[in-house]
Amino acid sequence: MDYSIETAPLDELQCDCIIVGVYQDQQLSPSATALNNSTHGLINNIVSRGDLSGKNGETVLINAVPDSKIERILLVGLGENKPLSGKDYKKALLAAVNSLKKPQIKSVVCCLAECDVADRDLQWKSRHIVEVFNDAVYQFTHTKSDKETESQIQKISIAYRDVGKKHELGAVSFAATEAEWDLTHSGMLQGKAIAEGMDLTKHLSDLPGNLCTPTYLAEQAIELSKKYASLDVKILEESDMTALGMGALLSVSRGSRQPAKFITLSYQCGDKDAKPIVLIGKGLTFDAGGISLKPGAGMDEMKYDMCGGASVLGTLLAVAQLQLPLNIIGLIPSSENMPDGDANKPGDILTSMSGKTIEVLNTDAEGRLLLCDALTYAERFNPEVVIDLATLTGACLVALGRVTSGLLGNDDALCNELLAAGETANDTVWRLPLWEEYQEQLKSNFADMANVGGKDAGTITAACFLSRFAEKFRWAHLDIAGTAWRTGPTKGATGRPVSLLIQYLINRT
Ligand code: BES
Ligand code: MN
Ligand code: ZN
Repeated sequence: MDYSIETAPLDELQCDCIIVGVYQDQQLSPSATALNNSTHGLINNIVSRGDLSGKNGETVLINAVPDSKIERILLVGLGENKPLSGKDYKKALLAAVNSLKKPQIKSVVCCLAECDVADRDLQWKSRHIVEVFNDAVYQFTHTKSDKETESQIQKISIAYRDVGKKHELGAVSFAATEAEWDLTHSGMLQGKAIAEGMDLTKHLSDLPGNLCTPTYLAEQAIELSKKYASLDVKILEESDMTALGMGALLSVSRGSRQPAKFITLSYQCGDKDAKPIVLIGKGLTFDAGGISLKPGAGMDEMKYDMCGGASVLGTLLAVAQLQLPLNIIGLIPSSENMPDGDANKPGDILTSMSGKTIEVLNTDAEGRLLLCDALTYAERFNPEVVIDLATLTGACLVALGRVTSGLLGNDDALCNELLAAGETANDTVWRLPLWEEYQEQLKSNFADMANVGGKDAGTITAACFLSRFAEKFRWAHLDIAGTAWRTGPTKGATGRPVSLLIQYLINRT
């Protein structure tokens, strides 16, 4: 998608559609007022006839504007005429972009950065427009044989979220005055970097397990480091992992024909002696559950078990593009979890890289087996903080649904920074307790700990398990099982929590 800034008067701009906001009670935004004047009261006419109440999320597309060079106008309801919350702003933007799914609409001028959003400046608003618009036009066509023509099924109209209808939108311009140019521009560049990072995350996540293997993920990391000189990559092979004693990780990949890979990306643009921020992403390119096999229904969605890893790659892409003055290490332990004659069996006891032993009571709790060795490996970077991202527990869906990601950690300041960054980015997290009492559930009669803690508090006991390998640094864990992808008719990756992470990193600069 192309982004640009226009400073000329609205009725002189060349585009397929101009997007302006209208508040409740027939109150027009400044741009809507300007267009209303140059169109002899067209907008007031529509509003006073009751065709647009101004409720947030409502839209009206004006397809023809008499006696004017303007092709189309999209009116977007903004709700009450007062500063919008960040959430309501996103809602209005989504409604706007989703009503532009018409082959005729390829370029738009967006005037929604002018509306007041509580505690947010023009830079944030421009950035958010890019993020939301880019997210909405994303389509995964890589594995469709005919990438251009809509398939038969897509032609059937489904009421729910306009499933299948395509966007042709390829260019978005921001209307700005000369004085607004700088903030609009910097927000636009931030948005573009985040959008590109999210596109990579979504693309890798949506790829099926037969194409996106641990080897493929490693190749993508190598590609990324070729594209950005500031990114260095190192891939550990299984033999390297054996030498390091990563017994927990290797026990999972032993059941798969695909070799495990351990990806390290290094970005060093901060102070020479600043300790790095380490991001760890779970990279299970397919999780069948192993010998504790998952039920068949919905198992395809376990191709998304590498979304944490994909988010690390997308985040580092955006970081490199924004040239943030930070030191960051990205770690992606990657494997499949399959049933096999050589796979982990319930009751097996493993020795992790830390030396701690683990009794595998359920082979489907494999993510923590990869992450525990990655956490131990992270020690060698002497990290400032470690944040892991993982589609770790189905229990997180039960607790928080698909609205917000789970957050657990051993450091209140770090958790609060992540909570705040999520709020700003409209990519929220919600903290769950990591109290001592829950650790008891991991008791094993035969090893230092069990890999599962029973049916109660599954998200917390998973984090309790990880916490035992994160004692040497400040650490937070994001359980993205409910937020990394959508299920149902709009099944697809969301790119979360890339924008949260970028916000957190920007806040640290
Ligand atoms: N990748 C899954 C978690 C998951 C399941 C994410 C469904 C999203 C949707 C993870 O490896 C897993 O299987 N966890 C088990 C843990 C259990 C055995 C303690 C789970 O959640 O069932
Ligand atoms: Mn599993
Ligand atoms: Zn898993």
